[in-house]
Amino acid sequence: MTNPWDHPDWYDLHDTTWTAGPEREPEHYRELVIALPPLDAQDHLVDVGAGTGKLSGLIARGYPKLGRVTLVEPNRDKLDRAQRRLREILPDAEIHHVPAGVGEGAQLPRGIATVAVVGSVLMPVMELRGGALRDGLAWLRASMQELRAMLGPDGWLFDLETLAAPWARGSDDDPVRRLTMAELTGEFARAGFRNIECVYRFRDRVIVKGQPVRA
Ligand SMILES: C[S@@+](CC[C@H](N)C(=O)[O-])C[C@H]1O[C@@H](n2cnc3c(N)ncnc32)[C@H](O)[C@@H]1O
Repeated sequence: MTNPWDHPDWYDLHDTTWTAGPEREPEHYRELVIALPPLDAQDHLVDVGAGTGKLSGLIARGYPKLGRVTLVEPNRDKLDRAQRRLREILPDAEIHHVPAGVGEGAQLPRGIATVAVVGSVLMPVMELRGGALRDGLAWLRASMQELRAMLGPDGWLFDLETLAAPWARGSDDDPVRRLTMAELTGEFARAGFRNIECVYRFRDRVIVKGQPVRA
């Protein structure tokens, strides 16, 4: 059987329950904070695709002595809100902002991050950009290179995503789609990451971490 949906028992079990659903989002974000190494005054957090600062705000509340935060976000209005949020939570920290996105050849920070976080950006943006999977992978690979370049030598990338449905199919010339866990961790390895590990999974919600391979 190629499509599990064709099996009536499997269908009845899954129907709309293959996704974790929005009620799992707080747990998903919280688990990223739990998975981080300790952060302090000398550390630099880079939040890529920061949106309004939900994820970095949560991290900042857990680590009130965090010294530096850089928010990378192409949407100016969201970036402004993220900055205001982070300044409120961390009044003594250096808060930098970069009004740009990954995968577009923009000027982005290099070699600064103790921890870089990506909160629900790579899979949705890849999908929203449209085109074929080949195009999505080209953007993702360029983005992964930029993410790796943002990290200091022992820095960590934490990537929070919602992955493809278990029955998602399609190769390079087919329409772009989200990736499976094996494909996503494969992209980490291809981009030059080591110590790649899934630190959380509930159905489609995952967190994958990795460190840059040493030069
Ligand atoms: C689903 S939101 C997640 C926002 C935030 N990380 C969070 O967890 O709440 C995806 C964000 O990615 C931003 N985005 C779009 N294109 C991007 C790109 N090329 N690089 C980085 N971020 C991008 C969007 O503007 C949006 O704020």
